[in-house]
Amino acid sequence: MVKNITNDIRKTFINYFQKQDHVIVPASSLVPKNDPTLMFTNSGMVQFKNYFTGAEKPPFPRAATVQKSVRAGGKHNDLDNVGYTRRHHTFFEMLGNFSFGDYFKEKAIYYAWELLTKEIGLDKSKLCVTVYHTDEEARTLWKKIAGLKDEDIIPIATKDNFWQMGDTGPCGPCSEIFYDHGEQYWGGRPGTPEEDGDRFIEIWNLVFDQYEDLPDGSRIETPKKSIDTGSGLERVSAILHGTNDNYGIEIFTQLIEGAASIAGVEPYGDHKTSLRVIADHLRSTSFLLADGVLPSNEGRGYVLRRIMRRAMRHAHLIGCQDPLMHKLVPSLVETMGEAYPNS
Ligand code: SER
Repeated sequence: MVKNITNDIRKTFINYFQKQDHVIVPASSLVPKNDPTLMFTNSGMVQFKNYFTGAEKPPFPRAATVQKSVRAGGKHNDLDNVGYTRRHHTFFEMLGNFSFGDYFKEKAIYYAWELLTKEIGLDKSKLCVTVYHTDEEARTLWKKIAGLKDEDIIPIATKDNFWQMGDTGPCGPCSEIFYDHGEQYWGGRPGTPEEDGDRFIEIWNLVFDQYEDLPDGSRIETPKKSIDTGSGLERVSAILHGTNDNYGIEIFTQLIEGAASIAGVEPYGDHKTSLRVIADHLRSTSFLLADGVLPSNEGRGYVLRRIMRRAMRHAHLIGCQDPLMHKLVPSLVETMGEAYPNS
């Protein structure tokens, strides 16, 4: 069997946080339980929302997950960008560690830095971070723990460094870790006009949860300060694959090449965009169906229907007359079945 780097990263992440006394919690369903404010699970913290707000007592003080997530419809919606960029997805996986009133900024920064630079082995000189512009504590900790220079700790005053789960719910300032893929790519550091380029890529967001947004528009302090972190598995895997293109990792190349071969087209030629759409949408469609969402005319089902129709349109564009998507499912199971045996 071909080496699966993405599987190895999941395991490294889980083993590391197990060693740091975190309970490894299985990924929750893509359909959030008892939460009408959210269409889909869009990050790792969703299943723990009530622990952050204090509405429920957490059964453990710290946890870690590899969370399947969908960002299509609702506040975090990436659907229309998918296919045209190197790193937008409707479905992705988020590696996250969480503290429910247990550790706060210092340990969160320490764990992220140690995991990335020692366990995963990223080159420190390629990393820089952002902090919320008023967060002097985070700046000091990055210097102390990671030995980063002043210019590698970038203050950001916008909502990019203030995370909100949705219109209501837990939120707080955050600190993001970026990887520099090198000057062969266009793009600038966070906070510069070129920040949306493909050179500096955010790979981990550490959220220092200390507030909750209420339905009446007010923001209150939560009873305990907590940590919610999220690292895009596909982005970290892309680095270890030697690329800044998430679609260059084995999970995607297998689907892209499979679809191209069925359609009889070049995998990385003129139909590149459509093949990316197909690979991405196959993942969201399969995982949403497995979690019980069915295509329909409203709500979640309508978003799924839009995703499926978009995938089918792109299958048509690459010349497929017959249904394509179901033929790719065995390949998806081969690359992701080990991590998601129940999906
Ligand atoms: N919730 C934060 C995010 O989605 C960190 O996990 O970026």
